[in-house]
Amino acid sequence: DKGTYPFYMLKEIDEQPNVMRRLAQVYLSETGEPVISDKLLNSMKQADRIYIVGAGTSYHAGLVGKRLFENMTQTPTEVHISSEFAYEQPILSKKPFFIFLSQSGETADSREVLVNVNAGGYESLTITNVQNSTLSREATYTLLLHAGPEIAVASTKAYTAQIAIEAILAKALGEADNQIVAQRFDVRHQLGLVATGIQAIVDEKKKIEDLAKSSFLNTPNAFYIGRGIDWSVSLEAALKLKEISYVQAEGFASGELKHGTIALIEKGTPVIGLITQEKTAGLTRSNLQETMARGAHILTIVSESLAKPGDDIILPDVDELMTPLLSVVPTQLIAYYTSLNKGLDVDKPRNLAKSVTVE
Ligand code: F6R
Repeated sequence: DKGTYPFYMLKEIDEQPNVMRRLAQVYLSETGEPVISDKLLNSMKQADRIYIVGAGTSYHAGLVGKRLFENMTQTPTEVHISSEFAYEQPILSKKPFFIFLSQSGETADSREVLVNVNAGGYESLTITNVQNSTLSREATYTLLLHAGPEIAVASTKAYTAQIAIEAILAKALGEADNQIVAQRFDVRHQLGLVATGIQAIVDEKKKIEDLAKSSFLNTPNAFYIGRGIDWSVSLEAALKLKEISYVQAEGFASGELKHGTIALIEKGTPVIGLITQEKTAGLTRSNLQETMARGAHILTIVSESLAKPGDDIILPDVDELMTPLLSVVPTQLIAYYTSLNKGLDVDKPRNLAKSVTVE
């Protein structure tokens, strides 16, 4: 039931602070330590490489997961689009461990990979929102997203829930291996900051609604740019805008723009910079300037500690590895309001189904 909400998508965006709190309750002990089964941890500890597999938004959550696992566990982590992995399997390491990300647990492309993984005798974990779904039944282990039903076709709270679980899992695994980054990472504190941070952003949605109206309503195209983890989020931000508001959008590594794509920038083209990482903030800002010099209409989504006068959307500060949980939220709202203002059916965009059960 969507209650007083006009669309499920907005309700699901607003639910994200609660989802973060619920995950902390479900997966952390009273002292804030991850509660993950020994069996799963031991199985992952033996792995020399993690392979994350998913489609669409789940693939994008995997891209963030790679940064979490590599930073906290020092285990090389690859992220793959399931429909590609299924027929062009990469050369596997000696002891691979597979993580399937799937909100529905029914995505045929991902299942095709899992069938091959099982045939190879490898262990796997499915992170899904749906208990007893196909991918959950067929994988060795399951962790549930506890996000509540996601009805809108455009995935929002499943993406943030997937990232939060990846953070908890990376912390558990890194700590079990005495990795200093994991030991220092206070996951409970961070999830608390994230919950309050998302709340602060959704409480200010009027501002984002106005921005969507002034900058996205009449544009045929738009670019999200960023580096590192911000680039990963820019891909998800662009997908949201494409699928529900039909604006042709690209998520781009900001340093790569000048190697060709900058030719697409015209007077008024919206270019949104995601800036949450100290070491690349200045570079992304210069890349934004380069597009502005070609007429782009630039906007910024910036962590508070990196903010400058004139920035458009300021995000409360959290650990740099957790920033996707905040930076994605304004982009979800930009997509939502652009779709709404165009009079489109936000929850049921054309040509799309909630769960894709064909390859
Ligand atoms: C985008 C979206 C899709 C799904 C993709 C995978 O908003 O919803 O890109 O993320 O079809 O679905 P799951 O996660 O159910 O495997």
